Amino acid sequence: MRRQGKMFVSLLIYTLTLVFPAGYASLPLVINTWPFKDATVAAWSALQSGGSVLDAVEAGCARCEMDQCDGSVGYGGSPDERGETTLDAMIMNGDTMEVGAVADLRRIKNAIGVARAVMEHTDHTLLVGQSATMFAESMGFIAEDLTTNKSLNIFSEWLKGNCQPNYWKNVNPDSSKTCGPYRPKATQTWNKRAQHANTHSHDTIGMIAIDNGGHLAAGTSTNGLTHKIPGRVGDSPIAGSGAYADSLAGAAAATGDGDVMMRFLPSYLAVELMRAGADPSAACKSAISRIKRHYSEFFGAIICANTTGHYGAACNKVPGLTQFHYMVTNSESSTPMLKSVDCF
Ligand code: GLY
Repeated sequence: MRRQGKMFVSLLIYTLTLVFPAGYASLPLVINTWPFKDATVAAWSALQSGGSVLDAVEAGCARCEMDQCDGSVGYGGSPDERGETTLDAMIMNGDTMEVGAVADLRRIKNAIGVARAVMEHTDHTLLVGQSATMFAESMGFIAEDLTTNKSLNIFSEWLKGNCQPNYWKNVNPDSSKTCGPYRPKATQTWNKRAQHANTHSHDTIGMIAIDNGGHLAAGTSTNGLTHKIPGRVGDSPIAGSGAYADSLAGAAAATGDGDVMMRFLPSYLAVELMRAGADPSAACKSAISRIKRHYSEFFGAIICANTTGHYGAACNKVPGLTQFHYMVTNSESSTPMLKSVDCF
């Protein structure tokens, strides 16, 4: 009898593993990159108080923007080569496939709010630079300086250190030794991409929200890479790259070295794999594998969730990133759960 009981338990566990191959399914669900717990709480509260999944993603990312999550989201972080902080953000409605995004946004703190305004008050998808700032002001956002003592200090230390590191290649004078201005070098050599992003600089908040009705939304917010060349835009505001959501399939959001990751549309790929039946962990893994094939040492991770609330994550194993942490809240645990996945 005891043996039969044991067999029953084993069979039950096996069946549960098949049915719930990724994170245990439960709706509603909020999931976001990195241990940005207060952002998870803000998104969850928005859902609990009757807000939509878009409200949840906006509230979660906005919280990170105000908290300057790890210095890599919001004002006062990642100064560019001129010392200015610029922001990228996007939001996507998985029901309508509408997207609103801003890139190289200047002097406005609430980038995700402006991204949502692009989606809801224009027929466009992406606004950039100073024109995005003017749009934001016309929508009632306040323009203000995004520089802080911290970002000023990062910038002046960089200048003192001969502008190292930087993102130039094949230029004169030698960008690995001196500051610019640079001019193109006649002969080009292939340079292995330097590892700029790391766990200390952390990175983008990417967030997914799903409600009880199976409505999905996803979004991102970041201040990009420290010492980037002015005008540089990363993966975060690009639909299919930084995030993607389709209420018929699932959603994904990415974090990491955007210059590399945006070449592979990992969020779009992961969602398409889930549409084809892959569980979220496998979909996330395949999206990372695709990039790894070409850039084995890239820094990056992705979170995925399907329409039933199963979730997963994957990351590329590099020195300094062997495990990736992310946050989950669902009806099983309204207190945010810190989750981790071993990188491969
Ligand atoms: N993933 C953020 C960026 O590269 O800008």
